Amino acid sequence: GQILNSTLEQQEVRKRAVEAATQLMKAETGSLLLVDENKEKLYFEVALGDKEETIKTITLDLGEGIAGWVAQKGKHLIVNSPKKDARFYIGVDGRTKFKTRNLICVPVKVKQKVIGVLEAVNKQDGADFTEEDLSLFSSLADQVAIALDNARLYQEQEVMFFQTAESLADAIEKRDPYTGGHTQRVTLYSLAIARYLPLKPIEKKWLKIASVLHDIGKIGIEDQILKKPAQLSPEEYGVIKHHSDLGAEIIDHIRQLRDIVPGVKYHHEKVNGRGYPKGLKGEDIPLLAKIVSVSDTYDAMTTDRPYRKALTKEAALKELKRCGGSQFDRKVVEAFMKAYRNGEI
Ligand SMILES: [Fe+2]
Repeated sequence: GQILNSTLEQQEVRKRAVEAATQLMKAETGSLLLVDENKEKLYFEVALGDKEETIKTITLDLGEGIAGWVAQKGKHLIVNSPKKDARFYIGVDGRTKFKTRNLICVPVKVKQKVIGVLEAVNKQDGADFTEEDLSLFSSLADQVAIALDNARLYQEQEVMFFQTAESLADAIEKRDPYTGGHTQRVTLYSLAIARYLPLKPIEKKWLKIASVLHDIGKIGIEDQILKKPAQLSPEEYGVIKHHSDLGAEIIDHIRQLRDIVPGVKYHHEKVNGRGYPKGLKGEDIPLLAKIVSVSDTYDAMTTDRPYRKALTKEAALKELKRCGGSQFDRKVVEAFMKAYRNGEI
């Protein structure tokens, strides 16, 4: 179970399942087919070896071929002489120039329902598959079913999570008429910058959410100030400045979002210590916040505001460069430039 539980990424889980199946069965190769419920077909999700791309273009009807039979009946099967078995579909061998000598095939069931089929092909050393193989393979398939279902649930949860974050962000955009599309652009820029910085995958996820939610605290700012169609007075500006702390407080309620709080709370800090809310300097400012800061400011500069016109892209880039080392982190600005030059911004 260990190899299957150590990761939740769906593709990884599927690939590992087939590798484990092939190894366990001492087979030459193996594959995982999944049921497409709408089309009532089986498609190859994973196929080990160099024929994978070709195999993946093949689909089977339910009931077609050995795998189709196993999927339809929900029963396991050993076929040691495929040529003599009328159920055997020779199309796969035909297209891949592979020779199936024998195969063992088990259904993958979640709550009694067949979601796919695992198969191992060609027992090593010219041997036949045995009843013992079948019972081993079936218990592996049960584990695979659990791992696949967990991975699916996990992925669904993550999608819902991003959508929830996006709808929160949309709530604030709907109130603030001057920032239409701002959140989406900031998120796009942040992710482009991240490609040129040594961020771990998990940090990229945090960055994405922090970018989506960076101004969520504006929900707590009164309309009179938030929607003022002119430059703010120093007092009003003081009120607006609360939004980064407010945003941090709002998302702090969600335990799973704790890691993005710094990205939201410090997105208006400047490396020279003249930002807010804390006046943090240089390396004391979390990297996520420094990235959001560059994306946010670039978008603010390149869009029209009620009291000024947008700068051209070139002018905004110049400004980012000029403020690298004072307002912005130099490395983040450099990453931004690289992304820009490569057409990602
Ligand atoms: Fe902000």
